[in-house]
Amino acid sequence: MANKISAPICRRLEKAARTAAKKSYSPYSQFPVGAAVLAASGKIYAGSNIENASYGLCNCAERTAIFTAVAAGERRVLAVAVYTPTAQPTSPCGACRQVINEFGPTALVISVCASKERQETTLDLLLPGAFGPEALS
Ligand code: THU
Repeated sequence: MANKISAPICRRLEKAARTAAKKSYSPYSQFPVGAAVLAASGKIYAGSNIENASYGLCNCAERTAIFTAVAAGERRVLAVAVYTPTAQPTSPCGACRQVINEFGPTALVISVCASKERQETTLDLLLPGAFGPEALS
């Protein structure tokens, strides 16, 4: 079951993701991505992709936003919005899906882009049969 998030909160989350892309450090891909997560506390945390000269160390915007939330003490993510500078919305990469699952296995995942197109789905649809914390208990 997807988390129920009101339309105004969704719009705020999307706006935060778009704004976060402006802080992207992406000199190698020239692909500025922004993300924002809505935590169970009601607070929104944003992040951008942060690349590295050692390409494999690039960090996606979604993970920056989630790690920022968790470092602030949050443990539950209700929704994630991601902005990519594309004509069509794109969904989070596999690594980010796994990280979202840790804190928001039923999170709403909203993708927005440079056009008016948008996509809404849920983490459990993006990562069915996920390996999560319960497997270790
Ligand atoms: N990227 C993200 O930050 N999030 C996504 O959902 C897709 C890809 C970043 C990683 C890399 O810095 C650049 O976009 C190109 O792949």
